[in-house]
Amino acid sequence: MISAEARPYIDASVPVLREHGLAITRLFYRNLFNEYPELNNIFNMGNQANGSQQQSLASAVFAYAANIDNPAALAPVISRIVHKHVSLGIRPSHYPIVGEHLLQAIQHTLGDAATPPLLSAWAEAYGLLAQALIDEEHRLYRQSGTEPGSLFDMRVTAVQKQSALVSSFTLVRADGGAVPNFVPGQYVSVAVSLPGGLRQLRQYSLSDAPGKSHMRISVKREPAGAETPAGMVSNWLHDNLVVGSILPVSTPCGDFAPAAGSGAVVLLSAGVGITPMISALNHIAATNPQRQVIFAHAARDMLHHAHRADIARAREVMPNLRTVAFYEDAAAFAADDAPPAEIIAGLMDTDKLAAWPLADTHVYLCGPIKFMQAQWLSLIKRGVLPTRLHREVFGPDMLDHLL
Ligand SMILES: Cc1cc2nc3c(=O)[nH]c(=O)nc-3n(C[C@H](O)[C@H](O)[C@H](O)COP(=O)(O)OP(=O)(O)OC[C@H]3O[C@@H](n4cnc5c(N)ncnc54)[C@H](O)[C@@H]3O)c2cc1C
Ligand code: HEM
Repeated sequence: MISAEARPYIDASVPVLREHGLAITRLFYRNLFNEYPELNNIFNMGNQANGSQQQSLASAVFAYAANIDNPAALAPVISRIVHKHVSLGIRPSHYPIVGEHLLQAIQHTLGDAATPPLLSAWAEAYGLLAQALIDEEHRLYRQSGTEPGSLFDMRVTAVQKQSALVSSFTLVRADGGAVPNFVPGQYVSVAVSLPGGLRQLRQYSLSDAPGKSHMRISVKREPAGAETPAGMVSNWLHDNLVVGSILPVSTPCGDFAPAAGSGAVVLLSAGVGITPMISALNHIAATNPQRQVIFAHAARDMLHHAHRADIARAREVMPNLRTVAFYEDAAAFAADDAPPAEIIAGLMDTDKLAAWPLADTHVYLCGPIKFMQAQWLSLIKRGVLPTRLHREVFGPDMLDHLL
């Protein structure tokens, strides 16, 4: 708990951080990477280049200051950070380095306003937050039986095109051991060495059910935009992984659990956000095929709708599964393709889905941020309680709901 002396300084910092948070975290990362260039191999240089990680760390610091008396609001944020950190191999010895650079960046950006009591209040707050993260990360490393930074070498046994841009890679342990257990919705970090020597880690949700001799990831090739470069790792995986390749992956992490429980469940996804939902669907098909499931997916068209074969297989064994596909262009499909679902033209509109019992049905969302914001608002309007809504973000979380 933060001390009575430090407390007023933290409270007074909230508006200041709101104004200067991004400047602080930008300076923080610049100095950190200058002094510790080896951290380039742990941090996501794509997220650094597009600014999302700086924004996410700034948001976490605000969220902490703004909710210092509200552990219930902070708990899910801490859980997400801890899982991400464990998948990346963050260790306790990293924390003082980050803390020192964060305080220096606060001091430099705020100038005279960064008085000694304000800096010591933040040193105390950082220390408390860091210890909470270190303790939770220690628990997760122990639970998974892995050391920070250790990776499993996995061998690719199949590469399968799942849609115009998404291919899946089936992986087994290269040493013949059992694949690590996981919960549908969890992801692994994969490590690749890029030309030029930079090592990069990226997270990919596991896209098949647990309990098999293999695990599977499904990766969307991120093409270059008019002003943005092509994605580094996704393109590398598509261009280089073939049957027999070795891919180092982390222990499974993440607290998104779309197959949890046994009651009715609604799974809503867009684009490559379908991957954790397919893991959940395959798991439910194998373990509880009578379960009531609404599975709705939004895609540009059928050619961009990944994992249609998994959905078709689930439909064969799940009498209470309702599948709906929202296609922006409902006319584009290959001649031999059977529709995977009832097709509705246009963007996802949850009002067009069959009604479900609102009180105890959990709804899971995964897709681009704009998609999730739109569904979140329309579901709340429909009467879904926020406690029944869960989402997975495929990038650093902006924590906007806490600010
Ligand atoms: C929990 C989680 C689960 C995920 N699951 C999946 C999954 O199942 N399948 C999947 O395909 N992905 C998934 N992702 C996303 C994945 O981790 C990667 O982010 C994605 O593959 C892109 O990585 P990349 O290296 O190809 O792109 P990066 O090189 O990291 O680039 C990312 C974006 O930043 C842009 N960018 C890069 N440099 C600049 C610059 N200088 N200026 C402006 N913009 C720039 C790029 O154009 C691109 O749009 C998941 C992410 C998370 C966090
Ligand atoms: C109190 C201290 C810290 C806080 C509050 C914090 C906060 C965060 C947040 C909010 C994220 C984004 C999570 C998401 O994906 O939504 C993140 C990711 C990350 N953190 Fe930390 N962190 C802390 C300490 C550290 C330390 C000590 C390191 C080690 C050098 C570290 C390395 C990383 C990396 C590499 C990522 C992923 C970056 C990316 O995917 O772009 N963090 N952290």
